[in-house]
Formats: sequence, C-alpha cells, structure tokens
Amino acid sequence: MPLVSSKDVLLKARAEGYAVGAFNLNNMEMAQAIVQAAEEEQSPVIIQASQGAIKYAGLEMICAMARVLADASSVPVVLHLDHGTDYKQNVKCLRAGFTSLMFDGHELPLEQNIAMTAKIVDIAHSVGLPVEAEIGSVLTIEGLLSDAEMAEIRALEVPKQFEILRKKIGPRVEAHIARPEEAKRFVDETGVDFLAAAVGSVHGLWLDIWPLRVDRLKEIYDAVQIPIVSHGSSGVLISKAHAEAKGVELLPGEGSLKDAIKVGYTKINVATALSMEFNRAMLEAAAKRPGEKDPRKLLDPARKAVVAKTKEYIRLFESNGKGGGATCAAKGEVAGSQEIKRGEE
Ligand code: 13P
Repeated sequence: MPLVSSKDVLLKARAEGYAVGAFNLNNMEMAQAIVQAAEEEQSPVIIQASQGAIKYAGLEMICAMARVLADASSVPVVLHLDHGTDYKQNVKCLRAGFTSLMFDGHELPLEQNIAMTAKIVDIAHSVGLPVEAEIGSVLTIEGLLSDAEMAEIRALEVPKQFEILRKKIGPRVEAHIARPEEAKRFVDETGVDFLAAAVGSVHGLWLDIWPLRVDRLKEIYDAVQIPIVSHGSSGVLISKAHAEAKGVELLPGEGSLKDAIKVGYTKINVATALSMEFNRAMLEAAAKRPGEKDPRKLLDPARKAVVAKTKEYIRLFESNGKGGGATCAAKGEVAGSQEIKRGEE
C-alpha cells in the first residue's frame, strides 16, 4: 500500500495500548530489512531517516526506496524525518514525499523552539502531514563519556556497569528531563502531533540497562494527551524482569520500556541497536570469507540479522498482528528477498 501518515498508525496504537517501532535506515539493506520484518510480523512500521542518512543516500533515493517498499507491502509503512534541525530540511522532506516530519529545536531557548515548531506545524498541517518535536534533552552518550570510558564500562559485569553509569551520567541526564507544565505549554502553543519528551533515555547507549523516569512520563502524557516518542531507546532497560536478571536496582518512579508503553510511549525510535547488529553480522561474514569479492555475500547476512532484530522489537512493542491482516500480493517481489543463484551475479 502507499506510504501512510504517522498519525494514522500512532493514534490507533495509543488507543489500543501498544507502540510502533520507528527504525532508522542507513542504507538499502536496512530499509528492506525493516519493512520485511514488519511484513512478517504483520505490524505497522515507521522507517525514519536522519539528516545524516539523507546526506549519505540522497533525499530522492531515500524517498524512492521507502515508496517502493511500502507499495510492495501489505502493512502500513510511514516515512519519517528524524531530528530535522531546521525549517528548510522539513520543507524539503515534505515536498519529497515524507509522510511524517520532526523539528528538533531542543537546543533552542523554549520560546524559539515553540516559535519554529509552530511555523513547521503550520505548513505541514496545511498539507495534512503530522509533526513531532522535542522538549527537554535526550543527551547522546558521546557527549557524556569518552569512547575509552565507555569501552572500560562495557568490559565490566552488568551491576557494576550500571553503578558507574548511574554515578557518572545520572545527574546530568536527570537535569535534562522534560517538565509537565512546559510540555503542556509547548503542545498548546505549537499544535504539534507527537512529543519527544526527554524522560531519562540517552542516545546511543546500547546496553538494555538504563531506566526511564516513568513517573514523569505519565505526568507529561496526562498533561498533553498526545503520543509520546521515545528517543535513545537502544540503551533503555527493556523490562522489570531484565532489571532483576541483570541486578539493576530501580529507584522509586523508575521503570522499563514496557512500563513506559503502558503510560504514554507510542513511537519508539531504535537506531544504534540495529546498526550494531548490521555491522556485527557483516563483519562476522567478512571474517568467514577473507578475500570475498562480492559485497552481497557480506551484506545479505547483515540484512537478515536486522530482520531478526527488528522482529524482536516489534514483538516487544506488541504491534505484531496490528498491521491490517491482509496478505501481501507482492511479497517476495522486492529485490533482496530471493537468493542469488549461480550465473545471476
Ligand atoms: P538509539 O540510537 O539510542 O536507538 O536512539 C535512536 C533515536 O532516538 C533516533 O531518533
């Protein structure tokens, strides 16, 4: 089916109590893998492109890939701009065929963030496109710890990892959490459709241990009553059971991704975990085939690994089976789903 609006899938998800994965693509194989996973799980899905991905592949190429994949799929597929940092980027994506936009003005003073978000909402809504915007700050791990510090932490046992992270980054993350009254004002004055409200996650952490301030998320959702977007999801603690298994002690008000979905998280952005999985499988294939001259022999295992990882997330978010149920007439016709045979290379 043609690309759909994020509003269609996210309002339905919120009403029915599940979340929809918004997965970042970096190349054709990742885009194919994400849509294939959604198809196999019969789930709606959001493929999203950062400004970096747009620069790498080209805006028209990103749109063309998303359009072809959506047209061949039986489940709803959205093409979303992730972290658009200015007006022009949003307008270019609107014109090119994106079906969902984001303005990220979290580094601006609140007044300016409100003014620019409202301007983008105005133009987007005039052609029926929804807009996401960010308040508070979802920090990036690279801005909090050096690569060497992070490598040292990764080498430790999980309870120790957590103890050190809590001490080293906890207070700074806490200081950037969004406030409910600010969120309410932001939504009222901008008319934004979805709110990326910082509630303790960190971009790029990639560990499955970091808790969210679920109490704050609930207050924000209760105040704004629009779907809340999770950024920096790759490092977030997945469930209370994972916390127990890993020896992660939660403070009052803290919770996991699963708890957060119950109280407002509806669009869950995942980038690092899929990229790491892609690279892991590609490097593993390269190690097994030294001197391989066909890049597809390295990229196809990576694509398959991303399919498997994306399916895990879809089931975690409980959007599986929520994609409409029709079987895909065109399934298998998108390049990449067939094995490469001898003589076809
Ligand atoms: P991660 O890279 O931590 O999954 O965050 C992704 C994200 O929030 C994209 O907007």
